[in-house]
Amino acid sequence: MTDPFRHRLPQYISTPRFTMRRLDEPDAKDLLEAAQESHEGLYKWYGGALTKRDLTIERVRAYVRNCEEDFEQRTFIQYGAFDNENGKLIGLGSLHHIDWEIPKGRIGYWTRKSEQKKGYATDIAHVIARIAFEKLHFARLEIRTATGNPASSAVPKKLGYKFLTVFEKNKKGNDGELWDLEIHVRFDTNGLPPMKLAYDDVLE
Ligand SMILES: CC(C)(COP(=O)(O)OP(=O)(O)OC[C@H]1O[C@@H](n2cnc3c(N)ncnc32)[C@H](O)[C@@H]1OP(=O)(O)O)[C@@H](O)C(=O)NCCC(=O)NCCS
Repeated sequence: MTDPFRHRLPQYISTPRFTMRRLDEPDAKDLLEAAQESHEGLYKWYGGALTKRDLTIERVRAYVRNCEEDFEQRTFIQYGAFDNENGKLIGLGSLHHIDWEIPKGRIGYWTRKSEQKKGYATDIAHVIARIAFEKLHFARLEIRTATGNPASSAVPKKLGYKFLTVFEKNKKGNDGELWDLEIHVRFDTNGLPPMKLAYDDVLE
């Protein structure tokens, strides 16, 4: 088993359009606004605390605190992407279902409604894959997308993942619908499209 704390994680990851870093409590207001404007898509396709209809600033603060704890434990490693021009939150990218035995995990992502269809989810998922392979030395990464969510399925396709199969009726959405899940995998960074990226600083 790989020691989850063996490798350092970057504190900031800069790309030409945005910088990724951990969420912090002062980000709660921006995150609340992003989640509220994106509620429909998040509720349908994402799930979790941010999709609740009665989301409040207190709940978002609690969510951020939970994420901090999970990050410390290396059980759920999530970064926010912040616009380089105006500092606004664009979206989130994460490693979840991490199995340090292999080590392997899955990538999750969402972008706020007003910033969709600009290539951000693809770039965010790209950065998370680079962290997984270059910093954490993962052996395997997976992206699972519902067949009914083509915008999400486009991300692993654009990033050159290998399409494996469809797990039929494998997950239940918030609305009770059963989803068929496409399984996309990659085992290294080979074939990722070019992207300028810089790691600044490291977290102990
Ligand atoms: C899915 C999601 C992350 C895509 O975010 P995004 O920032 O718009 O994604 P990108 O711009 O990087 O790329 C998406 C691709 O899908 C395409 N796309 C967008 N909406 C689409 C749709 N309704 N049908 C088909 N393709 C679509 C885009 O055109 C783009 O491809 P292109 O660059 O070749 O044109 C965003 O819609 C979202 O947050 N949805 C809700 C949460 C979610 O589904 N998360 C993923 C769970 S696995």
